[in-house]
This record gives sequence, structure tokens and C-alpha cells, in this order.
Amino acid sequence: MADIGNDLVKAADLLRQGEIVAIPTETVYGLAGNALDAATVSKIFAIKNRPSFNPLIIHTSHLEKIHPYVQSISAQAQRLAETFWPGPLTLLLYKTKIVPDLVTAGSDLVAVRIPRHPVTQQLLSSLDFPLAAPSANPFGYISPTRATHVEEQLGDKIPYILDGGPCEIGIESTIVGFEEDKVIVYRLGGVSIEALSKVVDEKNIIVSDSSKDQSPQAPGMLTSHYAPGKKVILGHLDDLIMQYGTDDIGIISFKDYYPQVPQQRQCILSASGNLNEAAQCLFAALRKMDKLPIQCILAERVPSYGLGRAINDRLSRAAAEQDE
Ligand code: TXA
Ligand code: MG
Repeated sequence: MADIGNDLVKAADLLRQGEIVAIPTETVYGLAGNALDAATVSKIFAIKNRPSFNPLIIHTSHLEKIHPYVQSISAQAQRLAETFWPGPLTLLLYKTKIVPDLVTAGSDLVAVRIPRHPVTQQLLSSLDFPLAAPSANPFGYISPTRATHVEEQLGDKIPYILDGGPCEIGIESTIVGFEEDKVIVYRLGGVSIEALSKVVDEKNIIVSDSSKDQSPQAPGMLTSHYAPGKKVILGHLDDLIMQYGTDDIGIISFKDYYPQVPQQRQCILSASGNLNEAAQCLFAALRKMDKLPIQCILAERVPSYGLGRAINDRLSRAAAEQDE
């Protein structure tokens, strides 16, 4: 089983030896390895059981450190980087030859992010290579936001989990690419559209409908992603409870308590109606529900602004039929 701890020297040594280590970020925990070493990167795919057509994000500690891996950074990308890095934003940029094709699944674009979690910032600063890190969950399952989430599912496959506490944001980074003067949002995440539009003119921000989009630009955005083992049904909770009864269900509500359902079978994402808090709690709530002896998880959408859009995106993917 993996050790869990906060030994940065141990984590760095393992990574230098080509091992895979789970690391905390402000979004979710990542399954990290030396991005420049194809053999290490292939271990990440194997541990996650991830298809090799689904590329990985590379992480560094500082903007200057990404230059060897990307051909250029446009003025627009630079502005986004300076505003949101370190933080929950991933940029798709043209890669250089140093980045193994396995990392990008053969694409000319590489996804780059500078996370702001202090533990991982320190770790990345001590390394002279970037870390490729997908979310540290088995392919298709909910991303981990606690060290114990990683331990439960991948603990027997990796030597070390660097514990940085519960993730501050709780949903993955926002992924953007560039087409002429347009910024294309391929995955809604920790940087909201409202925040992006403070830096990029709103008319130049295009949110790709990635649930329909089958383009190779966003191969990871499969509809039934983030899915727990139990069926998730989205709708108005009062109606759903009427329809499904209260015996075999659990509920995930935004802010209200539903007295007709036993307390231990409900998760309130934020009693005060705070979308940032709701994002922090979402994946832990799905995991908790998945462990209960119930047939299905009833859930409601949250208001669709700020991080609410990303939360609703994850809820919809969790609810999508897993038959593809
Ligand atoms: O918050 C996050 O982004 C976390 C933390 C660990 O940094 N990472 C994460 O990685 O969510 P992952 O692999 O679970 O999701 C990355 C997404 C995938 O959907 C993948 O398809 C897409 O990014 N992606 C990565 N590289 C890409 C590329 N070159 N072109 C298009 N999409 C890419
Ligand atoms: Mg993932």
C-alpha cells in the first residue's frame, strides 16, 4: 500500500527515480510522473487504466519554466497566464519536440498548468522536469479531492501519496485553447467564465459544447465522465423524491435540507448557498453517496453562474448513461 505523508524530499526522490506519486493541487489530486520520460508516462496510463488517446496535462512551478515545452505564447495566452497562474487554468499551446508524443496523445498541442497548491508548488520548484498529472482516479471515475480518496482506489498501485489536505477548489482546472482571437473553453473548471471575461472580451470566449464535441481537441471530454458506480438522476429534488420514494435513494442538494429523507442519506453542498463551497464538496459528496446501500443518487443542479456552471457540467456527466 502507498504511504501517505507530507515528505517533500521523499516525493521528489521517487519522482526522480521515475516513480509515480499522487500530489495535491488546489483543484483535485493528480497522479504525477516525469513528463519528459515516456516510460514513466506510460506507467501513469496503466495505473489509471486510461486509454492512450487521452492526453495529459503537464505541470511546472513557474511561467518561465514552461518555455522549453511550448513553441510560443501569444499575447492573449500570456495575459491569461499572468492573471490566473499559479491557479486552476490549463492552456493548450503548441508543443516542442521535448514533450513525448505519449503525453499529448500525438497532438501538436500540449496542455500546461501551473498549480498554486503550496505543497506542490514547493515540490515542482525542487524538480528540473515537469510533472504529467491526470486526476488521480481510475479512468471515468470521480476525481479525488482528499488523500484518502486516492488511497482507496489507487493505494495499491503507487508508492506514495503526498497529502496536502482537502482541495481548496474541488473541481478540475478550466481548459482553454486558442483560435485566432478566440479563446475556446474545452472544459469548464476552477476559473469561471466571468473571471475569464475580465481578461478576454466576452465575445471572444467560446464555450465548446464538449458533451457533443467529438473533435480530437478534447478527447477526454467523454459524456459519461466523473461517474460514480450508482445511477445519478438529475432534476428537481421534490419531484424526484415523489417519483423514486425515500427508501433506496440518497440525495445531493445545493443548499436545502429535505426532511422526508434520512439525514445520513443526504449531502448538502453548501447550506449558505455558496457555489465555491459547493464545488469543494461535490466530489466527496458523490463518493459518499456511492458507498451507501442505495439504488440511486438524486441530485439537483445549482445556479448556473461562477463555479456553478462547472458543477452542473460535472453533475450532468455523472448522470450520463455509461453505455458508450
Ligand atoms: O485540475 C486539473 O486539471 C487536474 C490537476 C491534477 O491538474 N488534472 C486533470 O487532468 O484534470 P485529467 O487528465 O484528468 O484531465 C485533463 C483533460 C483531459 O480531458 C484531456 O483530454 C485534456 O485535459 N487534455 C490534456 N492534454 C490535451 C491536449 N493536448 N489537447 C486536448 N485536450 C487535452
Ligand atoms: Mg480526470
